[in-house]
Amino acid sequence: MTTTADPVLDAETDPQTPDPQAPDPQGPDTDFLASVVGSLSTPQKSIESKFFYDAQGSQLFDAITGLDEYYLTRAETALLRARSEEIAALLGSGVSLVEFGSGSSVKTRILLEALPALKVYVPIDISGAHLDAAAKRIAADFGLPVIPLHADYNSRVSLPLQVPRDKLVGFFPGSTIGNFEPEAAVAFLKRVHGLLGSGARLLVGADLQKEAARLVAAYDDALGVTAAFNLNLLVRINRELGGDFDIDAFTHRALYNAEEGRIEMHLVSLKDQSVRLGGKKIHFASGETIHTENSYKYNLDSFRALAERGGWRSEAVWTDPEGLFSCHALIAA
Ligand code: AVI
Repeated sequence: MTTTADPVLDAETDPQTPDPQAPDPQGPDTDFLASVVGSLSTPQKSIESKFFYDAQGSQLFDAITGLDEYYLTRAETALLRARSEEIAALLGSGVSLVEFGSGSSVKTRILLEALPALKVYVPIDISGAHLDAAAKRIAADFGLPVIPLHADYNSRVSLPLQVPRDKLVGFFPGSTIGNFEPEAAVAFLKRVHGLLGSGARLLVGADLQKEAARLVAAYDDALGVTAAFNLNLLVRINRELGGDFDIDAFTHRALYNAEEGRIEMHLVSLKDQSVRLGGKKIHFASGETIHTENSYKYNLDSFRALAERGGWRSEAVWTDPEGLFSCHALIAA
């Protein structure tokens, strides 16, 4: 028998390689469906922002981090680079680093390079395949023991026994803390305190309050990448949950809510319309919105106050020269 070795064909027909765009053969994810139907049935319709990150959404988010208007990633990366020696001096040698969220980024590498005699690196992420690949690369590049933990870092997790319990340092960059409601941020900080123990330290990146126009531009870029990221929620719901959203009948909106100190993202219905989802018919009036994300912006004091409510005391804070972004070093009180 002869075999044809066409790698592209093989990859396309390989049953081990699921097509991320295909509907799940096991049927819709019931938690995802229940959440979306529930949150589209309230007076202010909403969709939980955690659902942004399917394969396409994660790629779009990566593209967002490189946009001219999205200053957050550039500012934080430059800040960590500029202050890495100070950060390392504060944390000392022989620490074990626990990162909440994906650990493949440039920011992680800046820290790993700067910290002397690091014992172990523990990235915690829900996406197993992505996490394992990133963990292998970091272990190889840094010659460092890496223990990846497949888990939702926002739920109850425990550290593997091999992780030394002294000199634990948590790392939560990217201003992801801003995507939590303040009460949820406090609850998260308390959980991290419980996980790492007293005496542990935590480095958190937090975007800063600034003029509304700059903030809005970061979430409504000229190329429309953030709009595609937002609308991809509806694409995902159609594909994975069998919805029939007309994607062209919704548009992206980003606004600054000064009272709450947050950027809000919405999807605006461009006409009166109904959408079928999970056996329900959901009506949208023209101009009605689906609230898809909050991104809270802090100042140095309001962030310190939040951290304190979560059981952490501020030890140091660094900001970039333009005052766009902050990196807080906290110690478990
Ligand atoms: C992941 N998170 C910190 C981003 C933010 O800035 O709130 C998510 C995002 N949404 C739109 N653009 C970026």
